[in-house]
Amino acid sequence: MKQITVKDKVFEISIPHEKILKQVHILAKKINHDLKGQNPLFICVLNGSFIFAADLLKKINIDCGISFIKLASYQGTSSTGDVKTLVGLDGDIKNRVVVIIEDIVDTGNTIVALVNQLSAYNPKDIKIATLLYKPDAYDKNIKIDYIALKVPNDFLVGYGLDYDGLGRNLESIYSLVSD
Ligand code: IMP
Ligand code: MG
Repeated sequence: MKQITVKDKVFEISIPHEKILKQVHILAKKINHDLKGQNPLFICVLNGSFIFAADLLKKINIDCGISFIKLASYQGTSSTGDVKTLVGLDGDIKNRVVVIIEDIVDTGNTIVALVNQLSAYNPKDIKIATLLYKPDAYDKNIKIDYIALKVPNDFLVGYGLDYDGLGRNLESIYSLVSD
């Protein structure tokens, strides 16, 4: 089993690049079919989704727009704790079909925050496309429309995902080896 070290932890290969690309291309086909004629706006959530978004969007062959946002998290003073704020949404999404492009849906907290904030701009519909989905961790009601790969509840790195700022540039996805 191919192992690598990222910072101070050992990871082993989990999903090879070829398998990721195959699933990403299947997803693009589905989206092309479903959203033809709707001129969707793809909203890539930085930083994690940048490689997935690039590979996916190269295979999208319908009219569409592409935009980027970042989520800033901070500790609120209220008991709700973690509050996430949208940074960088430009362009009008009113009456537009938007497709959120995420790297991974884990607990779903990020998706809930995103959908709530985007809803305030009255888009026609909000769809969610994610590279990875952890069914054992997700406990929200929002439907995840497009999933490239379902993964177990392990910590992953590579293909956009980082461990402490490192590893986003890895071509394949690696899983933490527990010690
Ligand atoms: P959620 O809000 O719990 O769904 O988590 C979403 C965010 O946590 C993702 O967008 C990632 O930035 C980060 N994350 C969750 N799981 C992993 C992982 O296994 N590796 C790296 N980052 C992760
Ligand atoms: Mg993320």
